[in-house]
Amino acid sequence: MSTPRATWRASASSTRQAFAATSSKPAQNTSSASPSVPRNLSRDTLLKVARPAHLEHRSTTFWPRAWLSRAQGRAGSCGGRVAERAWRAAVVWVGGPAAGCGWGSFRIDLVETTDRKKRRGVPSTTQRGVRMTAGQRRAWDEHWSELGSKLEDLPAGPTDLVRWFGREAPTVLEIGSGMGEGTAQLAVAAPEVNHIAAEVYTAGLGQLMMLAEKYALENLRLLQGDAIAFLTDHVEPGGLDGVRIYFPDPWPKKKHHKRRLVAPAFIALVASRLRPGGTLHLATDWSHYAEQMLAVCEGEPTLRNQYDDWAPRPEWRPVTKFESRAQAEGRVVRDLIYVKRSGS
Ligand SMILES: C[S@@+](CC[C@H](N)C(=O)[O-])C[C@H]1O[C@@H](n2cnc3c(N)ncnc32)[C@H](O)[C@@H]1O
Repeated sequence: MSTPRATWRASASSTRQAFAATSSKPAQNTSSASPSVPRNLSRDTLLKVARPAHLEHRSTTFWPRAWLSRAQGRAGSCGGRVAERAWRAAVVWVGGPAAGCGWGSFRIDLVETTDRKKRRGVPSTTQRGVRMTAGQRRAWDEHWSELGSKLEDLPAGPTDLVRWFGREAPTVLEIGSGMGEGTAQLAVAAPEVNHIAAEVYTAGLGQLMMLAEKYALENLRLLQGDAIAFLTDHVEPGGLDGVRIYFPDPWPKKKHHKRRLVAPAFIALVASRLRPGGTLHLATDWSHYAEQMLAVCEGEPTLRNQYDDWAPRPEWRPVTKFESRAQAEGRVVRDLIYVKRSGS
């Protein structure tokens, strides 16, 4: 069936404002609706503004009202309000009139993009210098082959964690370990846990290797590269016991918000890699980002907030320079702890 042109359209700017306003509020309905997608978006605006970057438009077909109940029931559709499961299924329904066809719904089929950059979404980090101090360079030369791996050097498919760590143990991934001071302290405090530090910043990884050497850490491995690609291609579903994201780059300017790591598609990916009962722990000192994290995680149906909203600051989370600076500048640090629901 050819696709009739929609006869209605929301103004792009007003919808963008609605989108921005909605995305900063925590979700009220935590069951399945995405909190970051407002109701009543037109088909075009939905695709332009709200579509996750890793999905591309494949086709749109119009279904007259008479055909709808059976089809929508099958696809689990949700009108103009897009549920996360609809994005994941890559099938979205938007109701409305079509020229010459009366009222009905558009079925929008999406497909995972083949563009590698887009598949990863907008990068959450910029390329930082690769220059290391002499100490970091020495630690790198001596320990990288044993402790570290670059993303591009990993064999295709899920990483064999038992082989990488030389033992079977609960495994926690920290995304964005920075200079590694908190990571090293956490690895010292929990020798029974395997820790993976994912970071793109070479000097930070060099510094972390110096700390691994200092504390003779055997339960730490370093991954250099984009953690999203690592999770997507090298971690099997349910393969992790915990994911930690402490003080991710806040990208405070509105035009850069799209670079923020914590977004619906990313959190769905993280949740899929957690085993039931596994935890996702986030912390940030940027209030707007904290609200976004809360809204996004509340919208992920496979995660359950361990608290009503903000978690009390766990004593065991080390204070890093980001937290010290926030305290000195009077910014509130927020923690969020989510548990992967069983049976999901
Ligand atoms: C603001 S720093 C926080 C470092 C550390 N968590 C702390 O609290 O001190 C955020 C770090 O996340 C890293 N990062 C951002 N996006 C990343 C990604 N997709 N994969 C791996 N690391 C990433 C950046 O390189 C940066 O070093």
